Amino acid sequence: MRATAIAQPNIALIKYWGKRDAARNLPAVGSISITLSDLYTKMTVQTGAEFRRDSLLINGERNDQLLPRLSGCIDTVMGRQRDFVAIESSCNFPIAAGLASSASSFSAATVAAARVANVPLDTEALARLAGRASGSAARSLYGGFVELANEDENVVLSSLRDAESWPLVVNVAITETGPKAMGSGEAMEISRKTSPFYSTWVKQQSKDLDAARDAIRMRDFARLAAIAEHNCLKMHSVMWASRPPMVYWNSSTLQCLQTIRQLQNDGRGVFFTIDAGPQVKAVCLAEDADAVRRALTETPGVVKVMRSGLGLGARLLDRP
Ligand code: DP6
Repeated sequence: MRATAIAQPNIALIKYWGKRDAARNLPAVGSISITLSDLYTKMTVQTGAEFRRDSLLINGERNDQLLPRLSGCIDTVMGRQRDFVAIESSCNFPIAAGLASSASSFSAATVAAARVANVPLDTEALARLAGRASGSAARSLYGGFVELANEDENVVLSSLRDAESWPLVVNVAITETGPKAMGSGEAMEISRKTSPFYSTWVKQQSKDLDAARDAIRMRDFARLAAIAEHNCLKMHSVMWASRPPMVYWNSSTLQCLQTIRQLQNDGRGVFFTIDAGPQVKAVCLAEDADAVRRALTETPGVVKVMRSGLGLGARLLDRP
């Protein structure tokens, strides 16, 4: 059996940072994201009697480092008694550099594995399984504007708005292409255990979610910009105050923020968000996207700018 799925990364506007149950990978806070259209991971999962172990190729190269987590994700969907699988992944953006490659990888793997195992699951069930592997992956099962609500025992996913009804553009300024220093899962646990700001972060999240949800419903860009930037900087403050401190930014990250402030002062519809890496995601009104791209391209230290619209959730590409 063989199936291929495609998934796009998503960018959180209200961030997931912290776990309330690390063993089950349940987030401590809800989050809101946008799913991108132009960056993708395609993942083929294949079973065969000839396979003696799981294997993973990423863009044609064997990768044993990421294999255990992907195997674990496939166990969650197919059960531990499953046959061995050959996984082939192709990705059109740098992996493990703070560009949400785990979100697109685990959501694509979940969709493909469910097909191979022939388990009929609805989108929310697939999202919960993907979320066991990586919290942010749950959101990539949905397109457009997505909320992952954190309710007691369950995470509940919902689509707040589809991509076409508010076609924002994201310009991602790549300031470094290497892998990040520490994965988000490990970093979150350090924050939970050591940051003096962590409990306030968790406490304030529902207020930020309410504000962002309303702004998205009203298509109020200025309000969304204000709450998304605030939530992003608050998350990074939690990280900076952790022990050891976690600073994912470089000098170009900061220069990009200055560029975006200047664009805002010039009346452009743009705001920034930054995840566990040095890249700056500039969320733009469609009419301002080109000007933002030009300004970010000229910002010192920016290696390249990737542009994306908003897109669909993870889906199968073919039938085995
Ligand atoms: C900063 O989903 O990568 O991007 O569940 O441990 O795999 P795990 O964490 P992950 O964390 C994402 C953190 C973030 C914010 C976000 O996407 O909400």
